[in-house]
Amino acid sequence: MEPPILTVERLVAGYGRIQILDEVSFTLRCGEVVGLVGHNGMGKTTLLRALIGHLPASSGRIHFAGRDVTHTGAAFRARLGLGYVPQGRQIFPDLTVLENLRVGEAARGGASDIPAIFQRFPQLARLAKRQGRTLSGGEQQLLAVARCLAGRPRAILLDEPSEGIQPSITRQITALLRELAQQDGLAILLVEQDLHLVSEIAERVFVMRKGRLVMETTSAALADPVMIRKLLGM
Ligand SMILES: Nc1ncnc2c1ncn2[C@@H]1O[C@H](COP(=O)(O)OP(=O)(O)OP(=O)(O)O)[C@@H](O)[C@H]1O
Ligand SMILES: [Mg+2]
Repeated sequence: MEPPILTVERLVAGYGRIQILDEVSFTLRCGEVVGLVGHNGMGKTTLLRALIGHLPASSGRIHFAGRDVTHTGAAFRARLGLGYVPQGRQIFPDLTVLENLRVGEAARGGASDIPAIFQRFPQLARLAKRQGRTLSGGEQQLLAVARCLAGRPRAILLDEPSEGIQPSITRQITALLRELAQQDGLAILLVEQDLHLVSEIAERVFVMRKGRLVMETTSAALADPVMIRKLLGM
C-alpha cells in the first residue's frame, strides 16, 4: 500500500502563546475522503491553517508528499500540491472569476487546464468576466473550490463548504469531492458541521474536542443520532 500523502504527528499549534491544537495525529491517503467534525471553536480551522502553513507548529511534525514540511511556508506546501478551501470562501472580491482561477493556478506554478475547470463548473464559465464580489454566496463557494483545483492539488483541505449554501450547490460540491477522490485519486480532508453530508462521502470521520482528536469513527456511525450526540460530547 502507498504511504499516506499526509501524516500528522502530535501537532501542537495556536495563536501566540495560546495553544489550541493538542497533539493532533492522523493520516490521510490518496483517494480517500476523511471527515472532521466538532462544535464551534474546537479548533478545526486552526488545524487546517496549521497544516497549510498559515500558523507555525510549536511541536510535532507534518509530512506531506514525502517531505517533512513542518517548518516550511505556505507557498512551498501549495507547490507540493496541498490545496485549501477556506471557511467563508475568501475569494478575491475585486478580481474576476477568471482572475481568481489564475491566482489559484499560480499557487502551484505552471499552467492549469482552465477550460477543463470551466467544464466542471458550467455556472462559473458563464460568469468568467464578473468580479468575485458580484457572485452569490453559492457561486463564490464554487469559485473557491475551482480556484483550489486550478492549483492542481494532490490533497485538498476544505473548511465547511456547505456553510450558508443552498442544498443544490452543496450536492454539487459533494458529488464533485467524491469524484475527485474516487476518479482522480485526490486525498480530501473535509471539515463540516453537516454530519449528514459527511456521512455521505467520508469513509473515516474524526471528532475534535478542545483541540484534540478524541475519536475516529466510520460514516455509518453518523447515521445514528444517539451516536452523534455521544461523539460530539453533547
Ligand atoms: N486569530 C486568532 N487569535 C486568537 N485566537 C483565535 C484566533 N482564531 C481562532 N482563535 C480561537 O481558537 C479556538 C479554535 O478556533 P477555530 O476557529 O479553530 O474553531 P473551529 O472549530 O473552526 O470553529 P467553527 O466551527 O466555529 O468554525 C477558539 O477558541 C477561537 O476563539
Ligand atoms: Mg472553523
